[in-house]
Formats: sequence, C-alpha cells, structure tokens
Amino acid sequence: MLKYFHKETELLGTVPNVLAECSFTKKLEGRVKISGSKNASLAMLAATLLTDEECIIKNVPRLDDVFVLLALLEKLGKKISFRGNIVIIRGAVKRQILPEGLSRKLRASVLVMGPILASKGSGVFALPGGCALGERPIDIHIMGLRAFGARYEICGGKMNFKRKILHPAHIHLPFPSVGATENILMAASLIPGKSVISNVAREPEIINLVRFLNAMGSHIKICGSTYEVYGVRNLHGAQFSVMPDRIESGTFLLAAAAIGGAIKIIGAESGHLTVLIKKLAQTGVQIGEKRGILSVKAARCPQPADISTAPYPGFPTDLQPLWAVYMLRAAGKSKITEKVFPARFMYVDELKRLGADMKLKASVLTVGKSCLNGAHLIACDLRAAAAMIIAGLMANGTTRVGGLRHLFRGYENFFEKLQMLKANVSIRQTKKK
Ligand code: UD1
Repeated sequence: MLKYFHKETELLGTVPNVLAECSFTKKLEGRVKISGSKNASLAMLAATLLTDEECIIKNVPRLDDVFVLLALLEKLGKKISFRGNIVIIRGAVKRQILPEGLSRKLRASVLVMGPILASKGSGVFALPGGCALGERPIDIHIMGLRAFGARYEICGGKMNFKRKILHPAHIHLPFPSVGATENILMAASLIPGKSVISNVAREPEIINLVRFLNAMGSHIKICGSTYEVYGVRNLHGAQFSVMPDRIESGTFLLAAAAIGGAIKIIGAESGHLTVLIKKLAQTGVQIGEKRGILSVKAARCPQPADISTAPYPGFPTDLQPLWAVYMLRAAGKSKITEKVFPARFMYVDELKRLGADMKLKASVLTVGKSCLNGAHLIACDLRAAAAMIIAGLMANGTTRVGGLRHLFRGYENFFEKLQMLKANVSIRQTKKK
C-alpha cells in the first residue's frame, strides 16, 4: 500500500496525487484508536504566539492543516519541533505579516490575528482559505478585535492593522462562531483587565483552549455561554495534552453504523458526542462504554431519523455529510437540516453518481434508502471526503474517490485505520497532470 509521508524538514504537507479505491465491505470489525483533535490543536498552536516561552503540546495529530499552521508560525519567527505527536514551540514573534500563500491554504490561519494583535498591537493579514462550505465571512472576528480597539485598513487586498494598545471590552457575539470565540479569547487573555464575552461558542475544543490559556497564566471563567477573561500583561509557556478528536470519533461511529458490523473505539470522549449517540440509538445502533472504550454494533435494519445541525451541544455540522450517508441505509425517508453552513451540501451531486436517493431543497436534504453502485467521485471538502469513502465501501463494485487533499487536511491515518477495521480500501497514485 502507498503511504503518505510529510516532508518533516519543511514542516509543510505536500498534496499527494492519490485517489481512494473502495470496494464493497460487508462489515467493519476490530478496534480503532482516536487521534488528538485537529480543531483544538490548531487553536492551541495559534495560542503559542501569546508567549515567547516554550510550549509543549502533546497528542497533536500529524495532519496537513497542522503542518500548514506550523509552517505559518515558523514564518512568523517561532522555532518548532514536531516529533511523533508532540509539538515544541519557542521563541519570539519576529514578523507580523502573514504570508498570503499559507493563509489561503488554511481557514484556521485567521486564528493568529487575535494573538498577534494582542501581543504586538499591529499586523498584516491576508484573508484565510479553507473548506469550500460556501461564503465564510470573518466579520465576527473583526467585530471582536475592533471592540478591543484594533483598527485596520484594506491595503493590497490585505487587512493592515495599525499599531494600537488594546483595551478590555464587553463583547456580545451575534452568532456563537467557534473561530471568533477562540480569536477573541486569545486576544483578551493578553489584554490586562476584565473582558466579558457573551453568546460564545461552547464546543469542547474551546473548553480545551480555555484550559490551555489558563495553564499559560490567563484567568478565564466559564459562566454558561459567557466567558469572563481576566487578561494579564505576560503569559508564560505551558505543557498540555490535546483532547481526542470528537469528529473523528463520530466519523468511525457513523462508519460502523453505515457499513455494518461491530467495532470498538478507543480514546473517544462519549460526553462530547451525546446528541450523535442518542440519534444513533434512535435508529437501532447499540452503543456501550466500558473503561473508556466505546463499542458500537450496527443495526440490521436502521430506522430513519431526522437531524438538524446546530452549535454545540447540538448535532455537529461536521458530521452532517456522514449522517446523510448512513441514512442511505435506513428503512424510510429522513430529513437533514443544515443550520451552521447552509451551503454544506456540495457532496450531494457526487453521491447521486452512486445512485443515492437525495433531494435538496434550500438547506434541507431528504434522504431515502438507496442501492449504491460504484462510481468515480471527487471530494469537495474534508468531511465530504470521508463521507464519500464510506459511501464507496457501502456500494456494490468499486468506487474511486479523488480530491483527497481535503481528507489529508483533517484525518490522521484514515486509510490505515479503516484497513485495521477490515474495510476494503486502499489508496493509489494517479498520473501527475
Ligand atoms: C469551526 C471548525 C469547523 C466546524 C465549525 C462549526 C475549526 C478550525 N473549524 O470552523 O470544523 O465545522 O467550527 O462547528 O475549528 N460566521 C460568520 N462570521 C464570522 C465567523 C463565522 O458569519 O466572522 C458564520 C460562518 O460563515 C458559518 C457559521 O458562522 O456559517 C459558523 O462558523 P464558525 O463557527 O466560525 O466556524 P469556524 O470557526 O470557521
């Protein structure tokens, strides 16, 4: 089997010219170990910009998004070592101008804005890139940073923030944006005085970030959907271990439910997946937990169930495409309503190539039981890529999935893990264009 390697020396993932080949798989069986959370890692890596001291972050997944952010931090002046799953970062920020190429590669590059403005008072930032999930504005991030006193003008297509001493603020978010909450919390941690942020996002990754910031010397109090931040003049280095990836855990839960069989998931936090686990149980899946290991047994004939995505603790938007694939097996129609990224249905036309019975009206997708037959699909975003591979394993014959650069952004050893679960999947090289 081909293996995908990163160039360690460059700290930057290279996009492989590969596609996934999936053949019908009757059932999954075996054990899978969950990696560290991508989204929590990205926020913590950005937070290391708040100090010159050494930070040691453990359980960081080796993913393209992580490699791109590390490359970006390196360009800003940080010294980085990434061995196994441990990242060690030290050194001062020497440059506050974000390279456009790297920023465009990664939506989460926007997360360096808050830390840089709080520590340096100025910076030049290109607009971020990321998944193709429709329009992805950063107005809430900007609104928060402006409330702290930051001011910018657009110059050559970039946001040029003028030197300013920031002050604490009371900020009410119009929507509990994950990234904006993280950016604002990081900035507030290094602005001396009390800031109050209300209507915040409460995703477990943010709670993980709060713990890391507190370990660095910030004082953040969580009061429901309000965070009180007692910012300090200097933050110090810290050691921290990243939480398990709840979206990866959900992906394997749904893979087992959709393909069939029984698997054990090691290292998942079931408390982060309450809504998904409840929904799966409603469809007939049996889920148990013993000493930190989740056991999942697929339903012979799953019942349909509707979902509607929402900020945490609601049903995660990132698992919506995977739920849609699972519902292709259910004995009846189900409805999926997308409320976080209304345009997150670009995968639907691709799945129809397999014969999926899916009808999209506005942000509501109706899914019916389908007999799937292999086809060639192109993934359009990270979670859609995983959903297509799982659909390929459910389909008769062989399915090829391209666009895997999206998958490598966010799943560590995905193919190796599926193979350990006895899925008939492999990756193969395509000819270079
Ligand atoms: C993060 C996650 C992503 C997840 C998403 C929602 C990371 C690196 N990514 O993305 O995997 O799918 O949360 O759980 O952590 N919005 C605005 N203005 C803004 C910011 C956001 O209108 O300034 C809108 C977005 O367009 C979207 C919604 O708010 O419709 C949610 O976005 P947000 O919560 O910010 O998601 P991300 O932080 O980008």
